[in-house]
Amino acid sequence: MTPSSSPIHKLEDYKPSPWFTPSVELRFDLDLHLTVVRAEYEVVLQTPEKEPLFLNGESLDFLSIRIDGAILDPNEYQVTPLGILIPDPPKDKFKLIVENRINPATNTSLEGLYKSGSMLCTQNEPEGFRKIVYSIDRPDNMMQFRVTISGDTSLFPVMLSNGNLVGESQLVEGKKEVIWEDPYPKPSYLFALVAGELEETKDTFITKSGREVALKIFVEKGNEEKVGFAFDSLKKAMKWDEDTFGLEYDLDLFMIVAVEDFNMGAMENKGLNLFNAKLVLADKKSATDESFEAILAVIAHEYFHNWTGNRVTLRNWFNLTLKEGLTVFRDQWFTEDMTDPAVKRIKDVLFLKEFQFPEDQGPMSHPILPKSYKEMNNFYTVTVYEKGAEVIRLVSELIGRDLFKKGLKHYLSKYDGQGVTFEEFVSSMEEVTGHSIPNLRNWYHRSGTPLISVKESFSKESNEWIFDLTDTGGDDYPLVYSNSLAVFNREGSLLKEEKRIMVGERDQIRVSALDQEGTKPIVSFFRSLSSPIRLDYKQTEEETIVLAKMETDGVSRFFSFQNLIFDWFRKSLDSGKGENLSTILETIADSFGRGWDKTYHSFYLSFPGLTQISESIGCYEFQKLASLRREAVQSIAVKFTSQFQILFEENRKTIPIQTKEEIGKRRLKNIALYYLLYDPKNQFEKLAVMEQREAKHMSEEVSAMKYLLEIDSKEKENSVRLFFEKWKHDGLVLDVWFAAQVASGEDRSKIAEKLEKHPQFNIRNPNKVRALYFSLARNPLSFHAEDGSGYQFIAERIKRLNEINPQMAAALTKLFSPVSKQKGELPKIAKIELESIANLPNLSKELGEIVGTILNSL
Ligand code: TRP
Ligand code: ZN
Repeated sequence: MTPSSSPIHKLEDYKPSPWFTPSVELRFDLDLHLTVVRAEYEVVLQTPEKEPLFLNGESLDFLSIRIDGAILDPNEYQVTPLGILIPDPPKDKFKLIVENRINPATNTSLEGLYKSGSMLCTQNEPEGFRKIVYSIDRPDNMMQFRVTISGDTSLFPVMLSNGNLVGESQLVEGKKEVIWEDPYPKPSYLFALVAGELEETKDTFITKSGREVALKIFVEKGNEEKVGFAFDSLKKAMKWDEDTFGLEYDLDLFMIVAVEDFNMGAMENKGLNLFNAKLVLADKKSATDESFEAILAVIAHEYFHNWTGNRVTLRNWFNLTLKEGLTVFRDQWFTEDMTDPAVKRIKDVLFLKEFQFPEDQGPMSHPILPKSYKEMNNFYTVTVYEKGAEVIRLVSELIGRDLFKKGLKHYLSKYDGQGVTFEEFVSSMEEVTGHSIPNLRNWYHRSGTPLISVKESFSKESNEWIFDLTDTGGDDYPLVYSNSLAVFNREGSLLKEEKRIMVGERDQIRVSALDQEGTKPIVSFFRSLSSPIRLDYKQTEEETIVLAKMETDGVSRFFSFQNLIFDWFRKSLDSGKGENLSTILETIADSFGRGWDKTYHSFYLSFPGLTQISESIGCYEFQKLASLRREAVQSIAVKFTSQFQILFEENRKTIPIQTKEEIGKRRLKNIALYYLLYDPKNQFEKLAVMEQREAKHMSEEVSAMKYLLEIDSKEKENSVRLFFEKWKHDGLVLDVWFAAQVASGEDRSKIAEKLEKHPQFNIRNPNKVRALYFSLARNPLSFHAEDGSGYQFIAERIKRLNEINPQMAAALTKLFSPVSKQKGELPKIAKIELESIANLPNLSKELGEIVGTILNSL
């Protein structure tokens, strides 16, 4: 079957499975090249009329099939590339035994059972289980698992699966067998198996009811010292879920395995989470502050899935956001509580604007509940995850966090052990509030970021200012919004705060004038992005400056300043030259005297990157944007040289620990260094060189190198060499090294071409692919290079990846989404490249769907 003809799964066609397998006994006879898998299912008919039974199975080497002990006659079933069809099963309840072989060592897709480093491991979400064994592989089929694993003791001293270890025995010399049982029924996508030469590290957690849970993290040899932060994160997450939602862990054992070759961040398999090694392993020498925070968040995310995802799971994949949006919201809330709420919210909103808004405005746009898909792997998107989380946040804004907590507990107890849809979640929330929430469900069906326009007028009679808000695209799916707003006087004193709920397409807000002359108050709408919208509101520069300095909501204050910066770009593009920067400079000057939290201040001072700028103002002339940006950053550097020098010196000595104070100091001195390096007199490069040499924390070392690369310093080669010499033994740190060399500046395809020949680059390892190819494709100056060299380079690598790892190939292709907006010949060049991908002889389903979607936009 060719990808364009591969079937589309449609939400409206969803039907429950006619057959179920409530229990399964799995047997694995492990071997790197020839693993035999045997499944023994209890099979039960659920429909009144008997229907054919279909077992999913792909890339499997079929061996045998039996019903109630008897080998099936070949004319009773058909084996196809997609599975086994039994057109007329003999009874409506029976035991089915099916056996097949697989080759984990040659499985480079990193889905199903595969080899990574010294271990075998699995990835089954969403539909990888069918690459391990024949099964009814869908989330509404919940099974009780008993798993027997046997294998060579020298190759597989550790053999893990979900739940509890219930048996372990020596077989013949050099071979052993273990038995795992999971007491909780679960869909196939939550099944996991890990086997190999792994080091076990341990800790414990006492639950609120006094049970002791054994915590174990398994790593490859040499990494045992890098698990401390992960354990602390896990214990914090367990405690937080108890304190916030009363949710306790439900097994006596919780395991995490760090895997080197992993397609995404991590996976919430019941009791046995699998993690991309970069999201577990960290110490102060080798991990940046950002990676520490990512570890905290992802460990929490996967742990939180134990309730939101595992105990209450999905009815079908269309509802992925039910578990992902909700669990992202929970991990965001957790990080807000563990760190600084305003800073965390700024990071989340920046991410949403930089990645999700563009996705929703581009060819990949889809509602958080997709209506259809060909390959589910393609729908693990920022829309399903991050916009999904915004919709859950909106629910919490509409009903308040206390009722939200009540609603979530109600949802989890009412649907425990079931596979449900977003409807069950929404109605649970409504049940605890006692009324329905109008239009909330439409958020699940409408794609695109709502654009809300604000029109101002003045009423002489009432001496009021009238703000008319209109959802400019809402006819099909009118929405509900939470609009947190505040009113300020012209000096920026807070006069009033209000939370308004806007139902449908319009709202009118009337605010008294500030005096008898009708002076206009300054209003800040949708503070902290209280709904996931874009606001079309032309505030005057004077008003924006007041908000950028005085907004009491730190998030909106931050974004007001960003708006000031974007306005400067708009004006400068209009006039064709860099306009006067005085408003920006004045606001920065003001910020030095405010005594803000250090991390907050460092964010405030971070000048937006090219992608952010271009998305915010809708301009794709990256060369122009880059030279304007350089001009602005240089002017700031020149104007505040002494302030940045002071900031740098004041925060220079940091202690390499993960506390708010030390993280803030590192961030602030790094941002100071960044501006100093842009000083056109080039007098501060030696500071960066020193910073790298004397670094006590990876955040210091990496920043210095990145900045030297970004400004194209004459020191950059030395810096890159020094970094490599120091870290060549650590693959995770080298990822940063690969990425930094292509992430900024022009013509980096040539560098990437050199780097991919480096002995430590490996196209089979997704972290390396992300470090090199994704970083390059996210560098607009190089990817959208006018001569098309960026597109050609990336397209060629997509073709290679199609043969190796279709998920990575498809994910990389998504970065072609903005090509239709590019200037000159670029859309045409992109089209040629994408067509040649579409014509690949072995085009995978994953890649076929994405390349087809983007081509349709060209
Ligand atoms: N469910 C995982 C999460 O926590 C994400 C996931 C989906 C995944 N597919 C995967 C992880 C494939 C690794 C590989 O969000
Ligand atoms: Zn998740």
